[in-house]
Amino acid sequence: MATPVRSAAASLLDNVAQGSSLNHVYNRAERQVAESEQPFLRELVYGSLRLWPLYKGVTRQLLERPLKPKDSVLEALLIMAMYELDECATPDYASVSGAVDCCEQLGRPWASRLINGCLRRYQRDKETLMQALGESERAALPGWLHKLLSKALPDQLSQLADASRHRPPFTLRVNPERISTDEYQALLREEGIEAREAGTCGLTLVQPMPVSKLPHFQDGFVSVQDASAQLAALLLSPEPGMSVLDACAAPGGKACHLAELGAQVTASDVSEARLIKVHENAERLDLAVTTVLSDGRNLQEVLALASFDAVLLDVPCSATGVMRRNPDVKLIRRKSDIGQFATLQSELLQAVWPLLKPGGRLLYATCSVLPQENDAVVGAFLNTEDTARLLPLPIEVGETMTYGQQVIPSELNGDGLYYSLLEKAIP
Ligand SMILES: C[S@@+](CC[C@H](N)C(=O)[O-])C[C@H]1O[C@@H](n2cnc3c(N)ncnc32)[C@H](O)[C@@H]1O
Repeated sequence: MATPVRSAAASLLDNVAQGSSLNHVYNRAERQVAESEQPFLRELVYGSLRLWPLYKGVTRQLLERPLKPKDSVLEALLIMAMYELDECATPDYASVSGAVDCCEQLGRPWASRLINGCLRRYQRDKETLMQALGESERAALPGWLHKLLSKALPDQLSQLADASRHRPPFTLRVNPERISTDEYQALLREEGIEAREAGTCGLTLVQPMPVSKLPHFQDGFVSVQDASAQLAALLLSPEPGMSVLDACAAPGGKACHLAELGAQVTASDVSEARLIKVHENAERLDLAVTTVLSDGRNLQEVLALASFDAVLLDVPCSATGVMRRNPDVKLIRRKSDIGQFATLQSELLQAVWPLLKPGGRLLYATCSVLPQENDAVVGAFLNTEDTARLLPLPIEVGETMTYGQQVIPSELNGDGLYYSLLEKAIP
């Protein structure tokens, strides 16, 4: 029998709050609910996570005594119910009674009165409860991240926080090998699908939809790719036939874009499961992309003497620029993770540099908005690597930082990516 959707959502949220990655636990929870309820599950889970720090601050005020750790699912239930009250189309009485019913389903019938009382008080005193929130809670950011961003990007902080609270735009990259952007927009119009232009070859749909409903998706006319991510291939702007190494390539969005522009792409990644996605994407787009399974730090041994005209290094990072797509970042990421990412990023940069031909260009990219993973990594590399020099980005894509540009995510536009372009000196 299917699990009721609100109980499934509350259990899943509690799992994430205990440290599980959303990607690891989401599919199992989705299979437990009726198919017709799956969109609502997604809405409840993603929406609650995007606003988690805010509603956690409200929960702190609503509960007279903190919950016992073994009852943490009730905190997840309260947060989810407040999200539903504020953001979903459900009538208020149904949101409250739905949450109260969950207590029994979650094996805690004694909590019905507590949940009912807390939600009634939230309805009554919402304004006062919101006013009593701290700054980071109101921004719906974890305290440590709010502090780092207040220091690093004080003028952009409110835009960053705002973007992290909203649903991401759904943007397509049009494959110029198959169709022009204008022609594809016309195809969409014929199907009654409204889209606005996003960058050079992007179209953002007014309403997201399953890709199976997009005209000629299986024929490789378009790919789903955020507008900021589409900048990578444009910044590297490969000449047709140029050899490009994408050292952290999966699932292959940027690698396939580079191949669409005519580059000979070698796409490498440390994850076998994710590398399969690169294959699938390249196959759908009918592109020849060579895949290599390897830790980027060992690529020199794996690829032996290969050297490339250009390298894309889109490193693993904190994902703080894409929190609206990966909202579990707000719960599971810790300040101490940032230093660990920075170490790995520096090691990757040092390891792939020898694979670049003299005169070649390397584009360093992250989906982080933290300078520790961006300017600091590039700056330290430039200080130690004599053959590396900084190039200006050929187009302005965001805020100018010391060594690159930082795209600030916004509600309607692209994600928060950082780009820096380096060139290898010719001896
Ligand atoms: C930001 S994602 C890349 C996204 C990809 N460029 C795209 O546009 O679709 C970072 C990737 O780095 C991979 N990765 C993590 N650690 C790595 C390592 N040590 N060596 C190589 N790849 C690594 C992850 O598996 C992940 O696929």
